[in-house]
Amino acid sequence: MKATALAHPNIALVKYWGKRDEARILPHQSSLSVTLAPMHVTTTVEFGAVEADVVELNGATAKGGEAARVLAALDLVRALAPKLGKAKVVSRGDFPAAAGLASSAAGFAALAVAARAAAGLPRDVRAESILARQGSGSACRSIQGGVCVWKKGTALDGSDSFAEQAFPDSHWPQLRLVVAMVSREEKEVKSRDGMRTTVETSPYYPAWARNAEAEIQPALAAIAARDLQAIGELSERNAWRMHATALAADPPLCYLKPATLAVIHALAAERRAGRPMYFTLDAGPNPVILTDEANELRAVELARACGATEVVRGQPGGDARLVDAHLF
Ligand code: PMV
Repeated sequence: MKATALAHPNIALVKYWGKRDEARILPHQSSLSVTLAPMHVTTTVEFGAVEADVVELNGATAKGGEAARVLAALDLVRALAPKLGKAKVVSRGDFPAAAGLASSAAGFAALAVAARAAAGLPRDVRAESILARQGSGSACRSIQGGVCVWKKGTALDGSDSFAEQAFPDSHWPQLRLVVAMVSREEKEVKSRDGMRTTVETSPYYPAWARNAEAEIQPALAAIAARDLQAIGELSERNAWRMHATALAADPPLCYLKPATLAVIHALAAERRAGRPMYFTLDAGPNPVILTDEANELRAVELARACGATEVVRGQPGGDARLVDAHLF
C-alpha cells in the first residue's frame, strides 16, 4: 500500500490556456510540451497507515487549496479501490518552485503514478494522465517523456482528454531548454485564476483557442524534422499569442517584467548573428530559451547578462516511473 514515483516537469511549446470545464480541468484547446530532465519531483504515497490524511510538500505540511487538490486526486483513486483508508503523501522537488516550471505538473504526475501503484492498480499511462490532469492540467503531459500532446477531447466526462507521447526523449537529445530566472517572486495571479479571467473577458479568447489548436500539427512536423528554427518561431508566436490574449483580459494580465523583455530582445540579436535561440514563456516572468547543445552555454551567459539570478538547464527527459527509494 506504499509506492514512490518520480516525474519530470514539462514546458509547453503550444500552451494550454483556458478551461471549458473548471471542475474536471478540460481545456478549450490541445497543447504540446517537452518533458524536461534532469529536474524532477519524487512523491511517496502510503494508504492505510495513518488516522488522517496528511500531505507534506517540500518539507512543509500542505494546507488550504494546495492540500485540497492533492486530497481530491487521492479521492479519485480511493473511488477505484475502496477501503484504502487514509493516506500519507510526501513530495519533494529538486528545482526551485518559483522557476515557473510548474512544479505542480511534475508533482501531480508523480502523485498520480504513486497513488495508483500504492492502491494496487496496474500502470496505465492513459489513466495516470487523466488522474494527473484533474490535479493540474499541465500535469497530464508529464506522465510520459519526450514530446507529448494533450488532445483536448470532446467527451463531457473528460475520458478522451489526456496526453500521449508523440516522440520519445531519444528523438532529439541535442535540444536544450534553459530557464532564465529573472524573478523569484510568487506570481500575482495564479494560472488557474488568470485562465478564467481570460476566458471570461478577453475578446481575443476564441481566436487564441482556434489558433493554438491549429499549431499542433505544424509543431509536430517541425519536431519530426528536428527543425529548431521552425519550432522556435512557432513557440515564440504561440507564447506571444497567449500573452496577448491575457493582456486583453479585464482586468489585464501582464506577466512580463523588464528583464523578461531584455531576454526576448537579446535572443533576437543572437539570431541575427546566426545563433538559433528562441523563447517560450508560461504565465510568469521567467523565459525558457530553446536552443541546441552547441549554443547552450551562450544562452546561459545571455540569461545572466539580462539579469537572471539563477539559470536552470534542461533537456528532453523520460517517462514518470516507479522507484524503490521511498521518502518515508
Ligand atoms: O496546469 P496549470 O494550471 O499549471 O496551467 C499551466 C498553464 C501554462 O503553464 C501557462 C501553459 C501550459 O500549457 O503549461
